[in-house]
Amino acid sequence: MMKVSRFWFGAAVLTIIVFAAVALASGHGDARPMKKAILLVAFGSSEASAQVSFANIDKKVKEAYPGIPVRWAYTSHIIRAKLAKQGQMLDSAEVALAKMQDEKFTHVAVQSLHTIGGAEYHDLRRTVGAFKMMGGFERIILGYPLMSTQDDMQRTVAAILKTIPKERQTNEAVVLMGHGSHHPSNAFYAALMFQLQLEDPNIFVGTVEGYPGVDLIQELLLKKKIKKAYLMPFMSVAGDHAKNDMAGVEDDSWMSILTKAGIACIPVLKGTAEYDEFVDIWVSHIDGSLRHF
Ligand code: CO
Repeated sequence: MMKVSRFWFGAAVLTIIVFAAVALASGHGDARPMKKAILLVAFGSSEASAQVSFANIDKKVKEAYPGIPVRWAYTSHIIRAKLAKQGQMLDSAEVALAKMQDEKFTHVAVQSLHTIGGAEYHDLRRTVGAFKMMGGFERIILGYPLMSTQDDMQRTVAAILKTIPKERQTNEAVVLMGHGSHHPSNAFYAALMFQLQLEDPNIFVGTVEGYPGVDLIQELLLKKKIKKAYLMPFMSVAGDHAKNDMAGVEDDSWMSILTKAGIACIPVLKGTAEYDEFVDIWVSHIDGSLRHF
């Protein structure tokens, strides 16, 4: 009697375990095989000169992660519309992610190619958050822009020090032109200048659309009696801002303003993403995302 009830009890427990295992397995049954992808998201540019930057990032990312499909999206509607007229179709992050969901990708590392975590990065965060809520992917992670953590800041300082023209003398200035933003993250530019000047007091960081502006940069250059300055875009691409606002012939370009103030200017028309030193920082952020898959 005792033996029989023990047998039935054992059988019942075993049945429950088997059912639970089957339930778990079938629940997992619709879990598709892991299919990873990387989505690179830039503001975008319609300038031909900017394409070298995008091509370099594309190449470096594909080299770092062979076997993981790499997709692109541009956040700027204006640029996408402009490119579409030229027959070049680029997706927004929303459309790119919807397509990837359709293609049954399960794990997506979305990488911001922005310089700071400004307005566009935060818009992208909302998009990624919405896709997370929809649940179409098992995992979707957004990687930080170029400058986010203190480690990023230090690596950015090192990248700048390595990429300034070799012929530049220490009594000559390097003036970096960042984009600038109304977003609170604009403070990263002044923070970068502070950290750069700890290493080299004649490197300056200004912005086109935020603080510090070119007026303040001019004031600082004159105070230090700088006679010559290398102007470099601190943007991923040497596009419209670099060509016109920085190095343009118009009276309000940095080149014109500083030249007028008695500072000889040498423009360097290369975006940060043309240098591996900067691209490596973005790539390391993709690494951080992929490690969570
Ligand atoms: Co702009």
